[in-house]
Amino acid sequence: MSEITKSGIINSIKKINHPSLDVNHITLNSVRSFENENGKLKLDLSLPVPVDSAVQVSSLIKGAILKEFMDLKDVDLKLESKVSGEISTHKDPKKDAVLPGVKNTIAVASGKGGVGKSTVAVNLAVALAKDGAKVGLIDADVYGPSIPLMLGLTEKPKVYQAENSVKMLPLEKFGVKLMSIGLLVDENSPVIWRGPMASGAVKQFMSDVDWGELDYLIFDLPPGTGDIQLTLVQTIPLTGAIVVTTPQEVSLIDARKAFKMFERVNVPILGVVENMSYFIAPDTGKKYDIFGTGGGSKMAEAYNAFFLGGIPIDPRVREGGDKGVPIVYDIPDSEQANIMMQISNGLTEQVNKRNSEKSGEIEILLGEDD
Ligand SMILES: Nc1ncnc2c1ncn2[C@@H]1O[C@H](COP(=O)(O)OP(=O)(O)O)[C@@H](O)[C@H]1O
Ligand SMILES: [Mg+2]
Repeated sequence: MSEITKSGIINSIKKINHPSLDVNHITLNSVRSFENENGKLKLDLSLPVPVDSAVQVSSLIKGAILKEFMDLKDVDLKLESKVSGEISTHKDPKKDAVLPGVKNTIAVASGKGGVGKSTVAVNLAVALAKDGAKVGLIDADVYGPSIPLMLGLTEKPKVYQAENSVKMLPLEKFGVKLMSIGLLVDENSPVIWRGPMASGAVKQFMSDVDWGELDYLIFDLPPGTGDIQLTLVQTIPLTGAIVVTTPQEVSLIDARKAFKMFERVNVPILGVVENMSYFIAPDTGKKYDIFGTGGGSKMAEAYNAFFLGGIPIDPRVREGGDKGVPIVYDIPDSEQANIMMQISNGLTEQVNKRNSEKSGEIEILLGEDD
């Protein structure tokens, strides 16, 4: 019979295979307190990830422990979900100055337009929110704002007089708070601005919007690596960036430029997402690599970045965007939604990793003595 130890317990939790519990994040560090009193285990767990439906996750964890340790009569489990990243750390003065209530800021970028950057940004935001995180989204693509359409939002944001300034309230849908120039100007009038005005608008989306407390604030950046993008990534206090690309060479060439741009301003790359990776014909089930294959993961490897995943082409992804209901919300059982959830899990993991590297925290490895 196995002895009841902290690492034994963690290992039994790690055997759980369920989409709403990403076991990669669970380490000995997750155990806040551990007490075994005559077969009754009191366990206090703090998971560094947003956990969806704590009740369900709790019962999964209890079940796994009771199954493995027959000696145990009961598990009294306290489960807390605590996304890493600090509010007002004073370690990152640039961020604290403008976004004091925001833990992590993540840019979604691409070298080229039309590769699905906004689609990825929206689905990622909704996926994180579905997992219980507090999420905001800034549509920083001021020349081609598409997020309001993708979230089905048309109202004008409310404005109120705060202590020293006028503040805007973000709109909210599917658990995601949004601010976009598309909510402020008429949908058919072009935004004709020079670079400084564009970055000025994005700055205002940070300073003049009442975001409250957020675990993640995601920026959908304009496509490309020109002046505006460079200015933006220098002014936005970023935790890190995700690069979205399609598998073919013309897109990869531009994605590489995005890597270089972030390198130049010392913004870490949290991962690469390959979009439009393949197409499965619904009638035959045959797989077609329409834009080639493997480009995204090869690029990630070349730059020593994490490959977050590849999203297939599916008309339902486009339809979800057009009708304002992202696929992770609309068809949660679909392969696409699953992949988006995995990408969001991978991202959480990369953000955690960066945050613990930054704070000098050393992860206790499993298998060590309790
Ligand atoms: N995986 C996909 N399958 C099908 N259509 C997609 C997919 N990803 C994006 N699209 C569609 O392609 C178009 C461009 O995507 P978008 O996210 O607006 O790109 P970007 O922001 O990079 O310009 C949109 O109509 C979107 O719905
Ligand atoms: Mg876009």
